[in-house]
Amino acid sequence: MTTIKSTSEIRQGFLDFFAKKGHQTVSSSSLVPDNDPTLLFTNAGMNQFKDTFLGSEKRAYTRATSSQRCVRAGGKHNDLDNVGYTARHHTFFEMLGNFSFGDYFKRDAITFAWEYLTVELKLPVDKLWITVFDQDLEAEKIWIDEIGVDPARLSRIGAKDNFWSMGDTGPCGPCSEIFYDHGEHIWGGPPGTPEEDGDRYIEIWNVVFMQYNRHADGTMENLPKPSVDTGMGLERISAIIQNGHSNYDIDLFQALIKKVAEVTGATDLDNKSLRVVADHIRSCGFLIVDGVMPSNEGRGYVLRRIIRRAVRHGHKLGAKDVFFFKIYDELINQMGEAYPELSKQRAFVEKILRLEEEQFAKTLERGLQILDGELDNLKGKVVPGDVVFKLYDTYGFPADLTADIARERELTIDEAGFDNAMAEQRSRAQQANNFTTDYNNTLVIEQKTEFIGYETLQSPATVTHLVLDGAFVDSLNEGDSGQVILSQSPFYAESGGQSGDAGQLILNNGTFIVTDTKKLGNAFLHRGYVSMGAVTVNEKVHAEVDAARRQSIALHHSATHLLHAALRRTLGEHVTQKGSLVDADKLRFDFSHFEPLSTALLHQVNFLVNESIRNNVEVVTQLMDIEEAKSSGAMALFGEKYDDMVRVVQMGDTSTELCGGTHTQRTGDMGFFLIRSESGIAAGIRRIEASVGLAASEAVDTVLKEVDNACRLVKADSVSLAEKIEHLLDRNKLLEKEVAQLKTKMASAAGSDLIANAIDINGVKVVIANIEGVDPKILRDSVDEIKNKLQSGIVVLATKVDDSKVSLIVGVTKDLIQKVKAGDLVNLVAVPVGGKGGGRPDMAMAGGNNPAALADALALVEPWLAERL
Ligand code: SER
Repeated sequence: MTTIKSTSEIRQGFLDFFAKKGHQTVSSSSLVPDNDPTLLFTNAGMNQFKDTFLGSEKRAYTRATSSQRCVRAGGKHNDLDNVGYTARHHTFFEMLGNFSFGDYFKRDAITFAWEYLTVELKLPVDKLWITVFDQDLEAEKIWIDEIGVDPARLSRIGAKDNFWSMGDTGPCGPCSEIFYDHGEHIWGGPPGTPEEDGDRYIEIWNVVFMQYNRHADGTMENLPKPSVDTGMGLERISAIIQNGHSNYDIDLFQALIKKVAEVTGATDLDNKSLRVVADHIRSCGFLIVDGVMPSNEGRGYVLRRIIRRAVRHGHKLGAKDVFFFKIYDELINQMGEAYPELSKQRAFVEKILRLEEEQFAKTLERGLQILDGELDNLKGKVVPGDVVFKLYDTYGFPADLTADIARERELTIDEAGFDNAMAEQRSRAQQANNFTTDYNNTLVIEQKTEFIGYETLQSPATVTHLVLDGAFVDSLNEGDSGQVILSQSPFYAESGGQSGDAGQLILNNGTFIVTDTKKLGNAFLHRGYVSMGAVTVNEKVHAEVDAARRQSIALHHSATHLLHAALRRTLGEHVTQKGSLVDADKLRFDFSHFEPLSTALLHQVNFLVNESIRNNVEVVTQLMDIEEAKSSGAMALFGEKYDDMVRVVQMGDTSTELCGGTHTQRTGDMGFFLIRSESGIAAGIRRIEASVGLAASEAVDTVLKEVDNACRLVKADSVSLAEKIEHLLDRNKLLEKEVAQLKTKMASAAGSDLIANAIDINGVKVVIANIEGVDPKILRDSVDEIKNKLQSGIVVLATKVDDSKVSLIVGVTKDLIQKVKAGDLVNLVAVPVGGKGGGRPDMAMAGGNNPAALADALALVEPWLAERL
């Protein structure tokens, strides 16, 4: 009996087959395309070879094979909505492929594919169906004459399906596809027939004959050499080999589905929500491994949407608690061998998933209730855009999540209405922002300012434009605050987190003080005021950067690179920069990490940065071709668009980063690095603030002075300070306890005195007293005490808290409350002293603001009681 191959064996078997045919096995690239802004996520095996096809990147081999992780969610190829509802849509899938870079072409590509399917996998020939591009007679001839495919099982198809392009631009060419016939029992027809959309004939392999490079204007240029790019869905081929129809039948998915059922408590293994969650753990797990973090924009938002969709389906399955992260373990079991990065980042991925789910779980139930209510009352079949928006805005329901829920009730959502509501919110937010900027956003400047500030801090320049109150003017006069645009400038304009330079422009007749520099398009706005004289358009000026400030900024920028490197060394490779701000007196660095840093870790990071500073290596900045920079291992930021020529900043073997900022000469210039604070700014994103140089040493001086003061106050030295404070705190606690005991004793003693002086009104004992300077709380304890001792009686106590405050309290024993209510009595006294009070019949309190009237007010008590007792 032959055992059925597992998905892992099929993946490995494919790679081995092509390795034997002279192909280099290449690892899957990241799901985040390497500096390719045209692509949201890696969505095909050929993405990482794009430049090799175009001829701009040379590799040591001309044949390659890979199993590439792909995500088709968000962006142009969005399968998210279909996942769970069909047998073959996924947010994440693996694409097996073989590639030729100017080596073999159509004949070999077709022969390899056929041999792999019919000889290696032994698929029956009469189950396979071939398509060719209708103008590609060469490919058709190879299939029929050389391979021997029955012409009745081959269709010619137009460009829509059989001319493959990576995107609007880039490598492309005609293709030939291989389909598998799942049998008559499933509805559908061969490609090219009206029933082709059915599930009977499923495309399994696309063999692309890469021939052209399409330009933005639509023209196509021949590639340097004809090439081959093929792609076969691993899940689809595995379903066939494992005798299934649905991809979800394969071993890998069955294991994940069982795990989802186990952690959610679901019992019906056919529930489609199980498939949704099993699919989503794959995309979410791999996206986080590849550096994407849940957020409200771009890639991070796609991840967030998928996680939230998974969480909702988990709850439908019966999950009572946070559950999604628990499935990651099974993903490692299934795919960890092929992708070791999955287990390396286990703790990180699980934490991010858990945090994100916890955050969403807080609003999920409430949002679902609101949505249920809306759906119950819905007239028609479309959920209005403002409801979708409210769920998004208040409960964090992405629109596609609401659509998913609506679909279960055979409803749709008003997407256009939702988009409008979003656009309105955005414009409101923008308006709110405009209040805080004094830059006129409507100004457009064609002018380009040439930046010469890497080499020099002073230079002559010509004034090309002047701006006053958001409009262009010909001159700025003494006292005017405005902006000056120069032909060239040594001033660094704020970018990449680095603050803009300050300094001055020496005018023919006067001075313009520059307080800040910003970019507007390609022009630099030197913002400030004319301190003396006037400046006019076309005037030649002398620009001088404030060198000391620039140097402080440069030191902080260089420190940011060292901090980045130290964090990666201390916490792990998952740390990536999420934002930064570099100023003259501090730096702020945001990075991905799942939990607060312990004091010990912060010390370690601080130590490592200072060690790099003490090593005093040269900071070398080189201008390089982007490809050269990448292969030198320079760290680039995800999603950042770089020019062809980039600056690479290297500090010994500690740090190499692509960076357009300004830096110091040697690491030792920074002197000393000090972390000032660490905090969380969003789920999975931490922020460190730090200083170097003078700012750091001033910060330490301030702390030392404070420590000195504290030492003097508690008579300790800096080494024994903490111990001394601890000792004082303990003693303080002890004293507080003693004071409380004494107060109780005093109240009790005072109570006894008062009882001795009680008066008798118609046989009832009454205590009326004004006690000076007693805490109102003690007063209350005394009333209780006296009441207990009297057993039957009435107590009226008053105290003057200060010159404008009186406290009153009245107690009446239970047997007398039919005759006298404590609240009435307390008000008798409170009203003349300017107050009002209340409480229970046996105990009431009041305050007043006129102590001078207290004696007279208390004198009212006796006659008032005499009438009632
Ligand atoms: N690039 C082609 C596709 O994605 C073949 O791999 O279908």
